[in-house]
Amino acid sequence: MNRPSTRNYVPRETIDEIRNRSDIVEVISECGIALRPAGRDFKALCPFHTEKTPSFTVSVQKQIFYCFGCQTGGNVITFVKEHEGKSFIETIEWLAGRLNIALPNQDARESADRKRVTNLEDLNRFAVEYYHRQLLTEGASAPARQYLKHRGVQPKTLRSFQLGYAKSGRRELVKAATDKGFTTQQLIDVGLIKDEDRGPQDRFWNRILFPIQNERGAPVGFGGRALSEEHQPKYLNSPATVLYDKSKILYNLDKARQTIYKQQRVLLVEGYMDVLMLYQSGVENVVASSGTSLSEDHARLLKRFAPEVVIVYDGDASGFQAAQRGLLRLLTEDLRVRIALLPTGEDPDSFTRQHGVDAFTELIDKSINLIEFQIQSAIQSQDIHRIDVKTQIVKEVTETLLNLKNRVERSEYIKYAARDLHVDERVLWGELRDAGLKETSVSRPMPQNKAVQQKLSARAQIEHQLVEALIQNPALIPYVKSQFDCQHFTEPRFAKAAQLLWEASTNDDSEGIDIQALISECPDENLSAFISSALLRKAPAPNLQARVDGCLKKLRNFHLQDLEQRVRSHALAEGADEMETLEQLVKLSNERRALRGRGVQDTHDENLNEEGVDNGF
Ligand code: UTP
Ligand code: MN
Repeated sequence: MNRPSTRNYVPRETIDEIRNRSDIVEVISECGIALRPAGRDFKALCPFHTEKTPSFTVSVQKQIFYCFGCQTGGNVITFVKEHEGKSFIETIEWLAGRLNIALPNQDARESADRKRVTNLEDLNRFAVEYYHRQLLTEGASAPARQYLKHRGVQPKTLRSFQLGYAKSGRRELVKAATDKGFTTQQLIDVGLIKDEDRGPQDRFWNRILFPIQNERGAPVGFGGRALSEEHQPKYLNSPATVLYDKSKILYNLDKARQTIYKQQRVLLVEGYMDVLMLYQSGVENVVASSGTSLSEDHARLLKRFAPEVVIVYDGDASGFQAAQRGLLRLLTEDLRVRIALLPTGEDPDSFTRQHGVDAFTELIDKSINLIEFQIQSAIQSQDIHRIDVKTQIVKEVTETLLNLKNRVERSEYIKYAARDLHVDERVLWGELRDAGLKETSVSRPMPQNKAVQQKLSARAQIEHQLVEALIQNPALIPYVKSQFDCQHFTEPRFAKAAQLLWEASTNDDSEGIDIQALISECPDENLSAFISSALLRKAPAPNLQARVDGCLKKLRNFHLQDLEQRVRSHALAEGADEMETLEQLVKLSNERRALRGRGVQDTHDENLNEEGVDNGF
């Protein structure tokens, strides 16, 4: 199975030791979550979503956490990783530090670093510190400090965003970094210098630098602002590098992610300064897609943290267009989108400084949904009463509605659009169907998030029972594995879980596998949450072996039915030899009868409710 790539650095045994010695209740409490005892478990308001009654549960005995509201779950490592926004290895280092466990080759790694710096992230980190120090201490930086002060950037903001200054020389950084042991090639690789005829030159000079971090807080690039109008371009950004793909990075997401989680909403602005000024005023759930249009990857990234995005783009024509482009990307990722409109000529920075943060918050509260936005903008620019104009707007609105995945929202928006455009709702539904929409106006609520329970087929219910029994009793895995091929699971998530269990267990393993280790190494968040929820459920009936055997028989029966079906359709399609087909069918049905003799009902007689139970995701 997939192991973290870092396992050379921290051996598996050490990770296990760190996990075993880190008490999940202590760690979660230390992360600022107020846990209250509830029976043998602990409960709290979930830190991963907003709720009024606690559904976040921590089991002391099983050393796992699980939220019954948002279905986030895992072990102590998963918790720190998710809650603190750390990578796997950073989490291990953090937990190790807390327990005073020395990581085996950490010291060796550090001394090797000192001799020969190889890591590009380290180089960026060096550059961030170097430029930051320049801004704070150098005499030559006085105009830059003055400029920032003039724009209202407070010293604490300057420090927390680690703003920097590149002096006017062309080889300042080249010199400082190579003195430190970095190579010219590394500097070129992270986009900090350019190799020109005159030799290597700094990319940034006489600019204020905004270090750009990825969502984990690792520095990946810079945005550099000129101090004067004459110095063009106004902003110069790092080029694309191995670390920096601007379509995947959102400025400030590392600092904003926790607040975004808590508020279930993210504000999307255009510029670095907008982010800085809002953050400084206490509006912390703000990110910017710096100098590029919003990409699909951006939308997907945001969706990990919140279901709703408020676009706060500049109150000018280009901000307006950018907002419209960004919209569709967000919609196709099934994010709820609202648009806050700023007065013409203002951006979030200038607006907040002029009118105060309360006025800004009010503006956010008054943000409109995307259909309102589209209609408003059309109404403002054209005469809505003209037939051709109206036809055009209906077309645009239809396109947006087609991109909406959520049917409840769609039908709400249709009502809104019909009212504002003075057309009949049925006309809009008709347009939508012509444009390819398959459903009717009788819409059914769709799941809003992964917390909504889905119905499972009878077969998937049995797969669920079996996988859950195995998670709770890993010692049975080798047995089940010898009896049933995990390829025969049909529901993808149980197939994935089974595959993980099958891979992790070896046949001679009498103890089964370490489920806790599985959770930390699980490649898929949903899967590790599922495993945790299975662990938290009540222990199954004592006659476990019989229960597992029952599941196995039923699944085999389903599988034999599949085979019969396949033989039949093959015969139909290919005109296969009748005798042979018949023989195969008889053989398969005998096998099924044999199963039934051992207690398995034909699934058609099975007393199972097709509507199913909740699936535990
Ligand atoms: P703006 O021109 O709106 O600048 O560009 P701003 O953010 O308000 O900056 P100030 O207040 O004048 O200092 C918005 C964003 O577009 C990108 C930058 O990320 C900027 O923050 N941009 C702008 C560039 O990448 N290059 C440019 O030349 C201009
Ligand atoms: Mn601005």
